[in-house]
Amino acid sequence: MSEALLDVNALRADTPGCESVIHFNNSGCGLLARPVLKAMIDHLVLESRIGGYEAAAAQAERVSDFHASIAELIGCHARNIAFAGSATQAYTNALSAIPFQRGDVILTTRNDFISNQIAFLSLRKRFGVDVVHAPDHPDGSGVDVAAMVKLMRELRPRLVAVTHVPTNSGLVQPVEAIGRHVRELDLLYLVDACQSVGQYPIDVHQIGCDLLTATCRKFLRGPRGSGFLYVSDRVLNDGYEPLFIDMYGARWVAPGQYRPVNSAQRFEEWEFPYSVVLGCAAAARYALHVGLDSIAARTPVLGAYLRDQLASIPGVRTLDRGPTPAALVTFDVAGWGPQSFKRAMDERKVNSALSFRGLAQYDFGDKNVDWCLRLSPHYYNTEEEVDMVVGFVEDLAPSPVSD
Ligand SMILES: Cc1ncc(COP(=O)(O)O)c(C=O)c1O
Repeated sequence: MSEALLDVNALRADTPGCESVIHFNNSGCGLLARPVLKAMIDHLVLESRIGGYEAAAAQAERVSDFHASIAELIGCHARNIAFAGSATQAYTNALSAIPFQRGDVILTTRNDFISNQIAFLSLRKRFGVDVVHAPDHPDGSGVDVAAMVKLMRELRPRLVAVTHVPTNSGLVQPVEAIGRHVRELDLLYLVDACQSVGQYPIDVHQIGCDLLTATCRKFLRGPRGSGFLYVSDRVLNDGYEPLFIDMYGARWVAPGQYRPVNSAQRFEEWEFPYSVVLGCAAAARYALHVGLDSIAARTPVLGAYLRDQLASIPGVRTLDRGPTPAALVTFDVAGWGPQSFKRAMDERKVNSALSFRGLAQYDFGDKNVDWCLRLSPHYYNTEEEVDMVVGFVEDLAPSPVSD
């Protein structure tokens, strides 16, 4: 294990939640570190003392560090970052900027996130776009890049959309390999990095994406109700703007005319949840301080340690594919009902999440899975916690309880 790289005990001491639960639900929402909590509480206290607008003005520099710190995290400039209330909000706002026309193609994968898939279907319903799913590679390594490139050449999609790590398994999609072809063909490329930001180093230029979305609450360990959108200079210069741009994103320069601002701010709204924004900045700084290389060297490895042990338990079927999965460990247990199994984990103070077929129609259909439990450790979890959880599953598996 790579524990030597990180002072896990100190990181746990910095994470109040570690005292009360085994938190294996980081792909749902990571545990807040103390500096993140403090940044948020301090701001709420300041708002209560001097007023909300005045507190924002007093903290303007720290607020702007949201953009600077996220930019540092993904390798771009602060001007390319917009705050959003969730990853989905960032994603749909980005989609709204694309002037889709009947017959336009959205080329995506069979593992893209449920809400993205629903948004594509909604665009199909309203604008008549075609939604095309590139096939998976037969070796189970994720999307078949060669087949996807062939579709790019044949269909010239209006948008190529790929989720880096889906919510429903530990699969890591080859976003950089795809990005090289997208750039070569000069297409528009939107990447959902919701489960990878905070778990891996991310470099938007290496990926070659035009737009990238994420939440701050998962592996980045920021607060709920937050996310961000990266918008490349190319997209900004080409004049893309959200359909519903507000007084913060645009200047009303004449009664019948507005002009979008030059930066990704054009994708933001005037109203900000300032304590949340400050919490996100603190979380991004915290991740940068811990080190993304060190995190990536530990978190997925801890996930693999968990997955390998679960796989050897009779009745347990681990479901993650790909050569080096992320720290999202998914499995089902023969005979158990999903709610009963989750309840048994809750009773043992293990935080986990359930997934169902409706969350991943293609992936779970291919795997013939109706439900699975998802365990997602992070760098502050320990091998001892993994061993305990494996012990619980070992004890539970032979005595199934249906819902
Ligand atoms: C891959 C992926 N994309 C997008 C989202 C949506 O994030 P949010 O709930 O912040 O909208 C999730 C949430 O689980 C996710 O896992």
